[in-house]
Amino acid sequence: MDISGVEQRLKEAGQSHLLHLWLELGPEEQAQLLQDLGSLDFQEINRFFRCAMESSSGGEKEKLDSRMEPVPREALGSVTRDRERLETWKGIGLRHISQNKVAVLLLAGGQGTRLGVPYPKGMYDVGLPSRKSLFQLQAERILRLEQLAEQTHQTKCCIPWYIMTSARTMAATREFLSRHNFFGLRKENVILFQQGMLPAMDYSGKIILEAKGKISMAPDGNGGLYRALGTQGIVGDMEQRGIECVHVYGVDNILVKVADPSFIGFCIEKGADCGAKVVEKTDPAEPVGVLCKVDGRYQVVEYSEITSETAEKRGPDTHLVFNAGNITNHFFTLSFLKDVVNLHEPRLRHHVARKKIPFVNAKGQLIKPDSPNGIKMEKFIFDIFQFAKTFVVYEVVRDDEFSALKNADSQNGKDSPTTARQALMALHQRWVLNAGGHFISKTGTQLPAVHSNGAADQPIICEISPLVSYGGEGLERMVNGKKFCSPLVIDEAGVHQPALGE
Ligand code: UTP
Repeated sequence: MDISGVEQRLKEAGQSHLLHLWLELGPEEQAQLLQDLGSLDFQEINRFFRCAMESSSGGEKEKLDSRMEPVPREALGSVTRDRERLETWKGIGLRHISQNKVAVLLLAGGQGTRLGVPYPKGMYDVGLPSRKSLFQLQAERILRLEQLAEQTHQTKCCIPWYIMTSARTMAATREFLSRHNFFGLRKENVILFQQGMLPAMDYSGKIILEAKGKISMAPDGNGGLYRALGTQGIVGDMEQRGIECVHVYGVDNILVKVADPSFIGFCIEKGADCGAKVVEKTDPAEPVGVLCKVDGRYQVVEYSEITSETAEKRGPDTHLVFNAGNITNHFFTLSFLKDVVNLHEPRLRHHVARKKIPFVNAKGQLIKPDSPNGIKMEKFIFDIFQFAKTFVVYEVVRDDEFSALKNADSQNGKDSPTTARQALMALHQRWVLNAGGHFISKTGTQLPAVHSNGAADQPIICEISPLVSYGGEGLERMVNGKKFCSPLVIDEAGVHQPALGE
């Protein structure tokens, strides 16, 4: 790649300022910048910018209220309202898993800015007694589920684990998984691939430099998945393995039921090409989008896109009318994903996120702005719901299935390592209770069950390895009729807390 060719391309794209500080760079920095510039398609980036700005401009956007309807009952499955169907759905899911038709796909390309650690979020240890990372919990759930499907159908099976990383998370994720021997999964069944990155731009469409020789780049959103599925050969890999459906989820939900057979079975029974797991939204201001129909098509609508009156509207049963809280937990058939990759995704515009983006000015000084000065462009995983022919929604209990790790403990709030840890331990405590075990205090009094959000000052410490139980099954023989003090740990080696009495 020679400098004059790059200069020409930059000139044609109106991005010549990227070389203004060229002469101040050392030879290595020059070589790196040249390589970075050589890998970018400026015409495409300019087009993305124009389209994204066009969709986001127009001042205050029209609110969606009058065009929205809640998810109709016929498209909805619920673990509480359809209890009698759960075993059937689970059976269908396990059968598909046993036939090697199900893959899981982890979205792990985000920057985890709010958590603020310098490594990928999946490596985070929330402080469980086992000190397991999010990656390990997920890998072990896959292993256990394979075992359950094998036991049910007397056949060996595999759930491939696709992991989408970004340039920021790829190397560390690969190194971590490899150092831990893929947590017992076979290396060839853990497939890492990388989503795209896009430059940050100022409001006039000029690419931002974050250092004299470095372009400010960010991952292109979790909806970058669809482009990456094509460019990285992942759809082809899935086809070769005979995969028919894929469970896609975000890295930060510590309770995630990877490849949940009941969810998968429900989607398959309904003949859905696309499905979303949701939890009930009870606080209208909670920052989760809601799944609903807009002009007859499924969409995730954010709080800011509707009036507070609509967000707060309640039905006769006192529940919010728009209460299907999206938790980045989705089902897709492979044939739907192929259509998305080939036909739909290229036509979708990026969303614009206005951000404070540090930049170097024309004099080469680094400026950290106090207010938003530019944009990042992202696509979202749910942008393609509108293209589904049969879309279904599966409602689960929040305490059992959703606790996201977003913020650091120092921010003293929600969705932190502490709340994630407590949610998992409260769930495991309930599993023990459901299997006939009891918890007692040091003085011998029986302790009540806690829910993840009602944690006591000194929550009971209880951790059950996913290698022992995927969803609370198989614990009776270890805990039924027994009393335990905190801490209680159950793993492949057994119960690590002496039972104090029968
Ligand atoms: P979030 O939007 O919560 O972003 O991602 P984040 O990176 O985890 O955290 P912040 O906002 O920087 O603090 C939801 C899910 O989507 C993935 C994340 O890894 C997470 O699993 N994601 C997000 C991607 O895979 N790629 C992206 O470009 C953005």
